[in-house]
Amino acid sequence: MTEPKKLFIKTYGCQMNVYDSERMAEAMGGTGYVQTETPDDADMILLNTCHIREKAAEKVYSELGRYKGLKANNPELKIGVAGCVAQAEGKEIMRRQPMVDLVVGPQSYHRLPELEAKARAGEKAVDTDFPEDDKFAALKTRPKAKRGPTAFLTVQEGCDKFCAFCVVPYTRGAEVSRPAARIMDEARDLVERGVRELTLLGQNVNAYHGHEKGLGGLIRQLATVDGLERIRFTTSHPNDMDDDLIAAHADCEKLMPYLHLPVQAGSDKILKRMNRQHTAEEYLKLVERLRSVRPDLHMSGDFIVGFPEETEEDFQATLDLVKAVEYGSAFSFKYSERPGTPAAERPQVPEDEKADRLLRLQTLLTTQQKALQDAMVGRDVTVLFEKAGRDPGQMVGKSEYLHAVHVQAEGIAPGDMARVRIVWSGRNSLNGELLQG
Ligand code: 5AD
Ligand code: SF4
Repeated sequence: MTEPKKLFIKTYGCQMNVYDSERMAEAMGGTGYVQTETPDDADMILLNTCHIREKAAEKVYSELGRYKGLKANNPELKIGVAGCVAQAEGKEIMRRQPMVDLVVGPQSYHRLPELEAKARAGEKAVDTDFPEDDKFAALKTRPKAKRGPTAFLTVQEGCDKFCAFCVVPYTRGAEVSRPAARIMDEARDLVERGVRELTLLGQNVNAYHGHEKGLGGLIRQLATVDGLERIRFTTSHPNDMDDDLIAAHADCEKLMPYLHLPVQAGSDKILKRMNRQHTAEEYLKLVERLRSVRPDLHMSGDFIVGFPEETEEDFQATLDLVKAVEYGSAFSFKYSERPGTPAAERPQVPEDEKADRLLRLQTLLTTQQKALQDAMVGRDVTVLFEKAGRDPGQMVGKSEYLHAVHVQAEGIAPGDMARVRIVWSGRNSLNGELLQG
């Protein structure tokens, strides 16, 4: 028997890339590759890249630089760049880094085995098409290996919103929804293999239209799958939060009380220039509506500071909005100029001003998150256990609100769920005790 070839995949960026990397590994599994944890013994290295901010994109080139020695020692090693940098920069990558053998965009990775074969034959292989054939249909069913208790499932890709700062509509293309029937099949299959919690993914997931009743309809249908205990979804746009999806937060027990709903900024002037198509007031009203149907909803968000022409007063409006919402978790970034996006053409905020605002925003967000986490002490939550903790007999899992919870739990295995009383709040996680019965 010949030794299987080894594939090392390094994933950058969002959860959609994590899902895509799994699917790419599975596709290459069909051609005799097994995954390896280190680039050192790999026959193929694949970087699944992110283009959302300049820093993310530059990481790819510095990582590639590190593989020079490996390539020199092993001329058979093939190096591929996948994901959004591949889509945005295409052949340019091979010019900047001639050791790259193949480039594949996020919509064409079902063709990876062909591209690899081409690269093995000594050709440079590039595919950054938005093909007619559906990659998910071409990828077909997933291998039957046992899975951990949580999984991502991409239901929607692309974005039609064209926020003025964002490359996604260019790198991932127009909105496309996968048919509900296919998602149901994939979900059942994942549950059979041990998955208890699904996070539905999409660049603009609540614009999902593969079900006649939108994302709310899909969630309700998924909730009928026995053995699937929890459903989450990310990332949403405020304007696509329809009545049924809001209602699902009240009446669909399997839908978890945690919502990632980016607002980006709190000033109406900046929101308008960002082309977000809603005001701060409208966002706050929406949060109020969501909390009126699900009072314990933990909110999460994304923020950009130092968007072109953002003044101190505009930034204060962001701080005011954050104070009004009280986020359970959040991601915040300095605005990063992206070539080809409208905001890149506007007058820029100086770098030190951006850094100062980011620090102030993150201080506020961290204080809020910690206060909400501390407020869990004394409360009872349900934990889905994922893995063993550091101490003997300890297990770690997530609460409904996505807090990591450590519990002394002899006899409990990954995938089990139990009621837990929270007794202590640490820096980034909680400790709890199993409730009997
Ligand atoms: N600069 C900084 N942050 C950005 N994001 C998207 N584009 C940019 C950019 N050009 C952030 C937004 C988005 C998250 C995924 O990344 O907050 O919600
Ligand atoms: Fe980018 Fe999200 Fe705006 Fe779409 S809705 S353009 S993905 S920030």
